[in-house]
Amino acid sequence: MYNFTSVNDVQDLSAMVNLGLQLKKSPNAFRELGKYKTIGLLFFNSSLRTRLSTQKAAQQLGMDVMVMNVGADSWQLEMTEGVIMNGDKAEHVAEAAAVIGQYCDIVGVRSFPGLVDRNYDYSEQVLNQFIKYTGKPIVSLESATRHPLQSLTDLITIEEHKKTARPKVVLTWAPHVKALPQCVPNSFAEWMNRADVDFTIAHPEGYELAPEFSGNARITHDPKAAFIGADFIYAKNWSSYKDYGKILNSDPAWMVTKEKMDLTNNAKFMHCLPVRRNVVVEDAVIDSENSIVIQQAGNRVWAAQAVLKTILESL
Ligand code: CP
Repeated sequence: MYNFTSVNDVQDLSAMVNLGLQLKKSPNAFRELGKYKTIGLLFFNSSLRTRLSTQKAAQQLGMDVMVMNVGADSWQLEMTEGVIMNGDKAEHVAEAAAVIGQYCDIVGVRSFPGLVDRNYDYSEQVLNQFIKYTGKPIVSLESATRHPLQSLTDLITIEEHKKTARPKVVLTWAPHVKALPQCVPNSFAEWMNRADVDFTIAHPEGYELAPEFSGNARITHDPKAAFIGADFIYAKNWSSYKDYGKILNSDPAWMVTKEKMDLTNNAKFMHCLPVRRNVVVEDAVIDSENSIVIQQAGNRVWAAQAVLKTILESL
């Protein structure tokens, strides 16, 4: 594996999950592997978990870590080719990414979608420009359409907590006050469709994910039906793909409640965080012993470490 931007970069999903679980047992077993190697973590957007967990993972592999908030700490970057740069962008990604590639052995990039122009967002221009110009392996720290480090984490967490060989996993849309990207649900769906799980997506009409992500998942528009017999409830809000970037529904019937969790097979509750309490999920669920959101966030370290170890071994 050279770049890590989607599930398609992983040759053997189950081996990658097992590597994450092995690293969780022996975090410092490969401290020599990344010695004298540097990772640069570039953030165009805010982060808590991705930033800290990837830094910790790299350090546990012996790497040096440089973190930069692009735009706030550096020059504003122009992403488009052939433009006359007489606006507010002081540097082109062609030079910036190439220079970063001189300092780093691996580069991580976080860049969210604008949620205005679907074609632009789904072209993944920022991620692809870094792949084009950096000359070093690129790890997605969440791009315009995917969040693969989160999805690997989610699969590791399901593997750890499952009680049946093929658990029933439900991704349920939940309300939110802001229009959010489709990255987490796109990516979660893409990974679940490749994993050995019984996968359902529940969302109101108008919230269909792009078909290349929803794949063969079972779809329901009933906010309760999918909960019946579920082993894992994964809640997430996303804005509409069809009516791009719009909020079409704020019905509180889609919030994850204790009443709905009581329909499940004693399901574990998952969310990538950050989460808005009593909008997405009620306190009684996220504070219950079935909530594994903190363990899930903890597993971000082992997902990142599995990915970085695999890339380091290919250098
Ligand atoms: N889940 C996640 O990516 O968290 P951050 O946005 O805080 O990194």
